Amino acid sequence: MNLTLKIWRQDGPQDKGQMVDYKVTDISEHMSFLEMMDVLNEGLVAKGDNPVAFDHDCREGICGMCSLHINGESHGPDRGITTCQLHMRMFKDGDTITIEPFRANAFPVIKDLVVDRTSFERIQQAGGYISVNTSGNTQDANAIPISKHNADLSMDAAACIGCGACVATCKNSSAMLFVSAKVSQFALLPQGKVEAADRVLNMVKQMDEEGFGNCTNTGACEVECPKEISLENIARMNREFLKASI
Ligand code: SF4
Ligand code: FES
Repeated sequence: MNLTLKIWRQDGPQDKGQMVDYKVTDISEHMSFLEMMDVLNEGLVAKGDNPVAFDHDCREGICGMCSLHINGESHGPDRGITTCQLHMRMFKDGDTITIEPFRANAFPVIKDLVVDRTSFERIQQAGGYISVNTSGNTQDANAIPISKHNADLSMDAAACIGCGACVATCKNSSAMLFVSAKVSQFALLPQGKVEAADRVLNMVKQMDEEGFGNCTNTGACEVECPKEISLENIARMNREFLKASI
């Protein structure tokens, strides 16, 4: 395949940035999207140009680092996958593909397609954990009965990889799907009950302080989420928040 790429280039946080056109040739449909980006960068480096900066690490849908907005969709046109799992067979010879960073005020651009998502880490630090005694007398996990239903829902919520696609997709730049997944994974388990009230209050407070918008139930986040995190988690977080506030 021969493709035209329209890529957001931005030298640094203060640079205005602009879309720049590139051509790539002989792209195999079996390549992943990031391998196609590697081909582009090898060509740029060979010519003495600056390669396009983009985030990636595991390249197998686990780490949440890859964060490209492709043709107007977070993680591209496929469903239930990350950018690194997207394959070029989703595109046709001659296509023009636009590639932008995940955009949100709370995700400032560092360079090109790389954004600063440490706001998510600060939300996690505000309550996305349980405090347990690990000094040798920890209770065996199997000694605490948990219903299969709740265990499954908690595992589903824990699948969130913190990529930020939900924020980039939302017209309000809301982080509610991410935060609700982190709140839910603990709220559904007995181990999470002890700090439940503080957790939800502190995580929501931090989410607001970071400048994320509110949820207006459009559901775009659920559609674009690579881990198909359910909107039901937002409803659960709202219930947890109300309970904690009262
Ligand atoms: S909820 Fe989905 S889209 Fe949002 S951070 Fe988690 S995995 Fe990514
Ligand atoms: S590079 Fe790790 S999820 Fe894509």
